[in-house]
Amino acid sequence: MGDEKMVSKIWELWKKYRGDINVPTDAEQIMQSIDRDKIPRHIAIIMDGNGRWAQKRGMPRTFGHKAGVESLREIVKACNELKIGVLTVYAFSTENWKRPKDEVNALMNLLVEYIYKEIDELDQNKVQIRSIGRVHKLPDKCQKAVSFARERTADNDGLVFNLALNYGGRSELVDTTRAIARKVADNQLPIESIDEQLITAHLYTAGLPDPDLLIRPSGDYRISNFLIWQLAYTEFWHTDVMWPDFRRLDLLRAIYGYQNRERRFGGLKGKNK
Ligand code: FPP
Repeated sequence: MGDEKMVSKIWELWKKYRGDINVPTDAEQIMQSIDRDKIPRHIAIIMDGNGRWAQKRGMPRTFGHKAGVESLREIVKACNELKIGVLTVYAFSTENWKRPKDEVNALMNLLVEYIYKEIDELDQNKVQIRSIGRVHKLPDKCQKAVSFARERTADNDGLVFNLALNYGGRSELVDTTRAIARKVADNQLPIESIDEQLITAHLYTAGLPDPDLLIRPSGDYRISNFLIWQLAYTEFWHTDVMWPDFRRLDLLRAIYGYQNRERRFGGLKGKNK
């Protein structure tokens, strides 16, 4: 193979791998290219890079989290407008307790502040707020804010906005296993009835479709204990953009990239949904 051919082959493979190289850069152009019939039903986002974004600017990490809330605000609005069914964001993991106390407190305060500031607009736009994770282990003020938001928006039929709070994929599987084991011990369930559907129905995300698309900004390529059961066939989208810089255009680029992948679900090209 000649050098030119080799370079072109490598380039094609790289484009296929990253999926984002040929994505239009202009919002209007992307909007025209997006297939409204193939909008992902569920998008999951690991809102990563806040700390690095702030440190690059000589600011404390909490400054980055604050800036990240602005991105969240814009992305929730955009998802609702695009008629995405579910948006799940990783706001606080079971591992995030290991961070300095000040940072943990700042994150808890941002959550409460965000809910009370945004609730009217979210409710007006028919967004339904939900949460997953061990929310009962969060400070009282956070539990109160989350319950208030859930109850106030429970009947809304727009975007399901799912906040992953004190969430860990492994602890979700522990809680799921315990819930099923309890039913088996109480003779409510025979062991033989345990299958993939039954496990899915006992997850925190019961009733929600699995994510079609996972977005991880900031250049890292990890799952970080996020939705480990649910991501089995999800398309991953990575970008070097840090979460505080992530805007509607970046979301559109991710959706466009997703629509240009072929999902085979373990089957063969063109033969499986
Ligand atoms: C990861 O970035 C981000 C988090 C642990 C928290 C995400 C929280 C927000 C965007 C704001 C608060 C949320 C709500 C719902 C109001 P990182 O700090 O690990 O970034 P790094 O990898 O650069 O250190």
